[in-house]
Amino acid sequence: MSHTTALHGSAKEDILESLYDQFTVDDQCLFKITQTFLSEISDGLSSYGRPMAMIPTFVKGVPDGSETGTFLALDLGGTNLRVCEVTLLGDKTFSLRQQKYKVSEALKTGEVTTLFDYLADSVDAFLTDTPSGGHDSHVSHAEEDSPYVPLALTFSFPVEQSALDSGVLLTWTKGFSAKNAIGKDVVKLLQDAFDRKHIHVKCVALVNDTVGALLSRAYTSGGCILGAIFGTGTNGAYVEEVSKITKLGQNPVAAGGEMIVNTEWGAFNNSRSALPTTPYDNKLDRESINPRFQAFEKFISGMYLGEIARNVILSLIDAAPKPVLFGGRSSALLNKQWGLDSAVLSEIEEAWEGLGRFSAPEQGSPEAQKEEKLRRIQGVLAQRLELSPPDISLEDADIVRKVCNVLGTRAARMSGTAVAAILVHTGRARLWDHGEQSSAGLKDEGKRIGVGVDGSLVEFYPNFQTKLRASLRALVGPEVESRVDIGMAKDGSGVGAALCALVAQRQNQANHI
Ligand code: GLC
Repeated sequence: MSHTTALHGSAKEDILESLYDQFTVDDQCLFKITQTFLSEISDGLSSYGRPMAMIPTFVKGVPDGSETGTFLALDLGGTNLRVCEVTLLGDKTFSLRQQKYKVSEALKTGEVTTLFDYLADSVDAFLTDTPSGGHDSHVSHAEEDSPYVPLALTFSFPVEQSALDSGVLLTWTKGFSAKNAIGKDVVKLLQDAFDRKHIHVKCVALVNDTVGALLSRAYTSGGCILGAIFGTGTNGAYVEEVSKITKLGQNPVAAGGEMIVNTEWGAFNNSRSALPTTPYDNKLDRESINPRFQAFEKFISGMYLGEIARNVILSLIDAAPKPVLFGGRSSALLNKQWGLDSAVLSEIEEAWEGLGRFSAPEQGSPEAQKEEKLRRIQGVLAQRLELSPPDISLEDADIVRKVCNVLGTRAARMSGTAVAAILVHTGRARLWDHGEQSSAGLKDEGKRIGVGVDGSLVEFYPNFQTKLRASLRALVGPEVESRVDIGMAKDGSGVGAALCALVAQRQNQANHI
């Protein structure tokens, strides 16, 4: 080996080692994040206008699975818009028919009335075009003789609610920036659109997707204390004692009992005092449409993982004195902001783990098997990053999969801190000092603790949940962690919205007695 090659070899290793180090979050860092989480949770419960909004949702209590009825739900939150008709069958099960509609970039960034006109049109198209699911009870009208079909809106952005059916948008997240929306009541925006178009639908409830996840998981499993989304964005909603939401002050709803709080934890630690920020995170933040906002979300969620990976890969292509990846060549796609979809990271990890479409067993010796996996990754890189195959060596494939792995692991481990913080805050766990564990005096001591989750990362990203759990275990100890039941809240946005519409309907009926 020549002197220069040897030098280059070690420079390359140094670059990679320092890179992996920067993205590794050790247990100590997880502790610091969780401790900061606890103080920001308290802060948000006591005052309005804090980074973590800790939004009272006016949903008091959770379902138990015996609820019945057919409701319409409209779900806007990320990539798609969905309209669904949900029938709660009262035995913890439900049936659902739905239609998805694409939300274009133009709609996300144009005038808000255009966006809400589109929402109203989609509901109209659903009611007109889609045949009913064949239930005896078609969507029920709110009150006898009412010409209006009741609908619940799942709106997955930070909305400061003032009642079950009203709330103003605090800020856009996840790439939305429609104009003239901040500070407006989103239920009114939707209702105005229905009324303008003479569509006989009445929006009776407003719900965040995390609240939907919590309610639907409670409905299907009989109990749940936290609903969390790890998808395009990340956020959680949990059951809180009303007496602890001190910012509600003299509000009559503050009279006692429990209420679901939407934490908006995506905005946790916007000051970044506890977040393990790298230069790649700073670059992503600076170039995003909401710099210095949604700090926590930008480390974790599907909207951003691909972009962090793209920045890391580019830095390795550009590395000096010699490129570390692809012989210094890039592609138009890689050069483009947001060019790399987070699903590609997931696919690369699947190829390495032999999951999904890569589940055919590899043949031969361990070396041959490794080579086979790396060849699959080469294929993904050529296809999804639009790189020229001769530019991708097996070593390149190995480096990229390690990059994906450190980013995915960081996201999952940091997600564990949010879950741990809620468990500790609600008195169900204590931060674990790695000593003898006792659950004496803890809330729900010895009982199962239900957590409903949804989102592309938790559903599809290889090992995401396992890594989240390992982080949770390090933070709250194995005794509590083993009692946490994390389950998918499938169709949470639709089913949760239906449950909210039911609550609204009951409240309405009570008011009319
Ligand atoms: C973003 C939104 C939040 C939502 C989450 C998951 O963080 O601000 O309201 O729950 O994404 O969709």
